[in-house]
Amino acid sequence: MENNQEKKQTVLSLIQPTGTPTLGNYLGALKNWKNMSDGYDCFFGVADLHSITVRPNPADLRRRTTEMYALLLALGLDPHKNTVFVQSHVPAHAQLAWILDCYTQFGEASRMTQFKDKSEKHPDNVNVGLFAYPVLMAADILLYQTDFVPIGIDQKQHLEITRNIADRFNGLYGNTFKLPEPFIGKSGAKIMSLQEPNKKMSKSDTNPKAFISVLDDDNTIMKKIKSAVTDSEARVYRKDGKDGVNNLMGIYSCCTGKTDEEIEKEFDGKGYGDFKNAVGEAVCDELRPLRDEYNRLISDKAYLAECMKEGAEKASYTAERTLKKAMKKVGFLQ
Ligand code: TYM
Repeated sequence: MENNQEKKQTVLSLIQPTGTPTLGNYLGALKNWKNMSDGYDCFFGVADLHSITVRPNPADLRRRTTEMYALLLALGLDPHKNTVFVQSHVPAHAQLAWILDCYTQFGEASRMTQFKDKSEKHPDNVNVGLFAYPVLMAADILLYQTDFVPIGIDQKQHLEITRNIADRFNGLYGNTFKLPEPFIGKSGAKIMSLQEPNKKMSKSDTNPKAFISVLDDDNTIMKKIKSAVTDSEARVYRKDGKDGVNNLMGIYSCCTGKTDEEIEKEFDGKGYGDFKNAVGEAVCDELRPLRDEYNRLISDKAYLAECMKEGAEKASYTAERTLKKAMKKVGFLQ
């Protein structure tokens, strides 16, 4: 039977272990990872190599990598069916990144908005790793001949540079890498801050009321949603400029599957109090199973280590094949 089965398309995405993910990470990316995990050949990883661009404390990095890995399994990803791995366990990522560095122009890397934003925010540590960050991301994606990359909209430009690098390399040496497509959900692509809804929700926000962490308890979630900034109109409908309400509608829609029209109808004649209660409860219902499963998994370090090992082996097998192909094309002795 095995031979008759059509080969599944490949999906890959990674997340940095820089703290507990937010509702933004979850609705923009992680929820889609879980949704795609059955129908595709999936590679999901913890991007620990990327995270050292901000020089984390080593003990924190170790703890957060384990925590992020447990969280990925808590999503319901099956570590035997999917490949769930830690990026630094697969040396091919750093090896291909170096090769691709030499096929990326200084100018195009300088145009990356995330590089510009991050260098402005941390002018004391504008390291070369931060500059080359999108090239490492390109290596992550191209190593697995990926078809789709489920991400939030903030990573779209990095997908574009990945395609440009792959296309350039293929043009010079013949077909080596598949050109990947981003997969960006309709409503969760950019979840905004609850306090400044014209800014992306981010775990590094200094105001904890601005973001919901996926491990927040029900009480905290309800409080944060209730104190979310809206407007003085007290009518639930989508319109440019109603940033706070638009954001809550997006969150509600992602958690319940309801369309904008259905949401507008549901809250017709009701105020923001009722609306926020419903959004809060929908978020609690969405995150509760994840939190319970995470709490169970995080205490089982032996199981996590076993899954990481299996993930590293499976990821390496595929990654090495592409790496070897690229090395040969460039002219390295075999
Ligand atoms: P990271 O760790 O910052 O975020 C992980 C994922 O969450 C999405 N995201 C959001 N989506 C919606 N609303 C938000 N407010 C929000 N904030 C974050 C991000 O778009 C991302 O999909 N460079 C990547 C990690 C990475 C990667 C890769 C991704 C490394 N290699 C290869 C895809 C493929 C990053 O820093 O994501």
